[in-house]
Amino acid sequence: MTIVEPTPEMIAHAGDLLIDGGVVVIPTETVYGLACNAMDEDAVRRVFEIKGRPAENPLIVHLSEAEQMEDVAVDIPDLAWKLAARYWPGPLTMVLRRGPEVPKVTTGGLETVAVRVPAHVVAREIIEAAGCPIAAPSANVFMGLSPTNAFDLDPEILVDVDLVVDGGPCEYGLESTVIDLTEETPRILRPGAVSRGEIQSLIGRPLGHMPPEEVRKSPGMYRRHYAPSSPVRLVDRGLQADEVGLTFGAAQSELQVKMPKDARAYGAVLYSALKQLDLRKPKAILVEEPPEGAEWEAVWDRLRKASANLL
Ligand code: TXA
Ligand code: MG
Repeated sequence: MTIVEPTPEMIAHAGDLLIDGGVVVIPTETVYGLACNAMDEDAVRRVFEIKGRPAENPLIVHLSEAEQMEDVAVDIPDLAWKLAARYWPGPLTMVLRRGPEVPKVTTGGLETVAVRVPAHVVAREIIEAAGCPIAAPSANVFMGLSPTNAFDLDPEILVDVDLVVDGGPCEYGLESTVIDLTEETPRILRPGAVSRGEIQSLIGRPLGHMPPEEVRKSPGMYRRHYAPSSPVRLVDRGLQADEVGLTFGAAQSELQVKMPKDARAYGAVLYSALKQLDLRKPKAILVEEPPEGAEWEAVWDRLRKASANLL
């Protein structure tokens, strides 16, 4: 495996590798992705293997432009075109009815397919160079923290991939918002950079929530996820000097990280801050609870999942 800068030669090389069935780590504006040709069953199987991800957990298919939805989905509702026009390229993933050409391994056996057009210029250039839809889960080992920097990539991932394209730190740092458009009422399956409130005001009606028992609909919604190896605990107070964790106050040691008070800025550094502390193998990482406001929904979702018990 080699880590390369996104020069025009390397982007062309990444495209060639992808079309030949390779697996390439690519930067996106949310998190780094473990990319392969979404239409190539063997390549998709390799991605599942590298991540150690259960086969029923579907991948997001990345496109270079909205029109490509027609290559991978059927019965596309008007709302999908409306959302695409407003948010693409960008951190919104839409679940649609799967087109017949998309292998079922890619969609975890589902009759639906998740699609998005990423905004990161390097991601888009690589997808264009490959000339095919690109399946890309976050480039972490299953259940771990998604990498938001090339240097946060796990060694287990690095040894198994054909190429890593370094696109610098990710702008958002949290995964895309996933919205399901296959039912009567559109629903958010995973909160993310595009907020529920924004989408609701664009479409002029409330969005549904996912009932917790509906595991099959979004198999990626495990209770524990996005977690470092040290246990994470949420606390509704500031940190003491000898505690390890994330705080809104001043850091009192190198085992504390002062977090931004703005939700978007917080999300952008959350995973790398947890990763940095996790490397010191503390007994626990304490996280001072963020505010409750709507703009913190995605951050709260990730913190709850990072702090959920395995049992
Ligand atoms: O920001 C992102 O979305 C990043 C970058 C690389 O684009 N990708 C990402 O992929 O987070 P992944 O595989 O780590 O998460 C995809 C999520 C999972 O929760 C999965 O269950 C859900 O999307 N998903 C994918 N296809 C689905 C489908 N057909 N129906 C319901 N949920 C789906
Ligand atoms: Mg993931």
